[in-house]
Amino acid sequence: MNKKTVLEVKNLVKKFDDFVAIDDISFSVKEGQIFGFLGPNGAGKSTTIYCILGLIEPDEGEIQIFGKDLKSCRSEIMTQVNYASAEFILPWNLNIWENLLVYAKLYEVPNGKNRIKELLEVFEMSHLKGRIIRDLSTGQRVRINLCKALLNKPKLLLLDEPMASMDPDVVDKGIKLLKQIQKEENMTVLYTSHNMWEIEQIANNILFINHGKIVASGTPLELTQQVLRLEAEEPNLRDVFIHLSRS
Ligand SMILES: Nc1ncnc2c1ncn2[C@@H]1O[C@H](COP(=O)(O)OP(=O)(O)OP(=O)(O)O)[C@@H](O)[C@H]1O
Ligand SMILES: [Mg+2]
Repeated sequence: MNKKTVLEVKNLVKKFDDFVAIDDISFSVKEGQIFGFLGPNGAGKSTTIYCILGLIEPDEGEIQIFGKDLKSCRSEIMTQVNYASAEFILPWNLNIWENLLVYAKLYEVPNGKNRIKELLEVFEMSHLKGRIIRDLSTGQRVRINLCKALLNKPKLLLLDEPMASMDPDVVDKGIKLLKQIQKEENMTVLYTSHNMWEIEQIANNILFINHGKIVASGTPLELTQQVLRLEAEEPNLRDVFIHLSRS
């Protein structure tokens, strides 16, 4: 049976004055996919994600989420979408519990307090729930960002370098947790990272962009075979990344 398309981006163009940051990209993401969205610094990944969130308006193109037009149905769509990035900063002076409560209310999460408790346990942060965000370590802040991103059990989760600057142990745990939650809820995930080990662990499909254009796509192994050598038997996204970024 054909899987539903959760996200469809058609001929997206985004310019900043004369500079073309996104240059006519089209792609679609199916239900339950974990889609690795890769590219060098400045390739246009975050800009694309901001367009998908409706935070910036594209100059051309269309975005459909759950089969609905983003422009005309944004509020309805966003109740089932969420986002996390290591750069995203929660209100600094509120503690963890207060922050998550605000977001649970905004997302109208049923049994919000229980959902917060559940996520804090999963991410091993319950003991710190009274600590203000400013006083958390970077890794702790990332875990809280992920709790926030999962509060509304999103059908589409956009993760823009969610684990940047995490220690390998935290990344490993984070990836395992995300994979487990993704499976349980059949969540669709768009995931960017510069850590190719992380991408190989989590993504089942890859889209590679450079200078705002799509340059390659496929499963990690397909991409390795296309870009490096046909006989490859294991994905090697690090070498694929280097090759595509330099070519
Ligand atoms: N508001 C803006 N005004 C002008 N240029 C911008 C703006 N936002 C992004 N850009 C430019 O658009 C390009 C794409 O930026 P973007 O942040 O999408 O890259 P990225 O792929 O997320 O890179 P990174 O891996 O470094 O996060 C860059 O050249 C950036 O300088
Ligand atoms: Mg970025």
